[in-house]
Amino acid sequence: MRVAIVGQGYVGLPLAVAAAEAGHTVVGIDNDGARVGLLNHGTSPVSDVSSASLTAVIASGNYQASDSFSSVSTVDVICVCVPTPLDSSGAPDLSLFSSAMEAVGANLGASALVIIESTISPGTTRGLASSILNSVSRHSDFELVYSPERIDPANTKWNVKNTPKMVAGLTSEGTDRAVRFYSSFVSSVTVGSSVEVIETAKLLENSFRLVNISFVNELAVFCSKMGIDVREVIDAAATKPYGFMPFYPGAGVGGHCIPVDPSYLVAKAREIGAPMRFIDLANEVNVSMPSFFVGKAEGMLGSLSGKKILVVGVAYKPDVSDVRETPASGLIALLRKNGAVVSWHDHLVLEWNGESSVPLASDYDLVVLVNPHSSVDLSVLDGVPVLNTRGGV
Ligand SMILES: NC(=O)c1ccc[n+]([C@@H]2O[C@H](COP(=O)([O-])OP(=O)(O)OC[C@H]3O[C@@H](n4cnc5c(N)ncnc54)[C@H](O)[C@@H]3O)[C@@H](O)[C@H]2O)c1
Repeated sequence: MRVAIVGQGYVGLPLAVAAAEAGHTVVGIDNDGARVGLLNHGTSPVSDVSSASLTAVIASGNYQASDSFSSVSTVDVICVCVPTPLDSSGAPDLSLFSSAMEAVGANLGASALVIIESTISPGTTRGLASSILNSVSRHSDFELVYSPERIDPANTKWNVKNTPKMVAGLTSEGTDRAVRFYSSFVSSVTVGSSVEVIETAKLLENSFRLVNISFVNELAVFCSKMGIDVREVIDAAATKPYGFMPFYPGAGVGGHCIPVDPSYLVAKAREIGAPMRFIDLANEVNVSMPSFFVGKAEGMLGSLSGKKILVVGVAYKPDVSDVRETPASGLIALLRKNGAVVSWHDHLVLEWNGESSVPLASDYDLVVLVNPHSSVDLSVLDGVPVLNTRGGV
């Protein structure tokens, strides 16, 4: 099939490469011209896609990147994978999504299949997305489908090809066409009875993680006051072979999904007058975690004024270079507000907020582990007191 994937980021690029490897002819559309240049030179800006595999699909003739939407008019399938963040008030910001849908609609050819992969609120496919396409497209015979991406950056076991895909279209024909497309490179495809079921299922998945992480963060505070190790408690509970799934504590939650997507569910819940209290409470707990860890640091050092503190791992989770919504941000700000002289080390991030990663060294008063990568060697910190936000000693 001829395929256009709009948005060549953490979601769109792995999808584009997987489709190209399956033999489809793929155009990766992105409005960031610098990124397009990088991609066409075979340089992958996304850690889950190697430059070697990108170069291979370019060489096969099955992939090219473009900052123009013109190819949309000649493709069979268009997948929309653009960011759906929150605005400054914490409400869904669909401006990038709407502008991408408008550009897709303005260029749509006859009988196109449009698949939305971005995370959106329930009702958005049938409502906003459909109405944008209907108002700007010259063709009314398009099919519109929702199929959320489930990618987990840095997960070495689950990827685009072996993670089951969920799909639901506004019509059964659209659903069938999407199932045929994804089945050509994804091992398992589940069909929902409506787009609203699948839109809500995606938000359930990420809200489930948010709520459970926040619960374990509260448990971490409890365990600290009890003088027991929360990590040991979780690992003991996880020996139960059914009905329990381990989640681990930290300085909060980060990334483009877990702190963001549940607010898309909350927004819809408010609109229809349904209670969604767990998500608000989870956000409240997570936002309070930096203050808990600053209190722990004060418990270890006394006043933080002038104390040299090294934060290790500023990415939003271990083994990724992504700093979007990282909980390290709030923690570092609060440590500094309390007078500490804070440096940070992250060999995958290197530059962040106009600052640079510093080498690991032993001349600190305290080391705070936020999201240390699995390859980091902490042995050089020998003798420095450690505060591990992820639990464990
Ligand atoms: N990152 C994840 O782990 C993950 C997992 C599952 C779902 N999602 C969802 O997938 C969507 C995309 O997330 P992402 O992490 O890939 O974002 P990203 O920021 O990594 O990539 C998005 C890309 O889209 C481009 N873009 C933005 N607006 C555009 C437009 N109007 N036209 C063309 N290109 C445009 C940007 O330049 C960028 O390269 C979001 O809705 C997100 O919630 C993300």
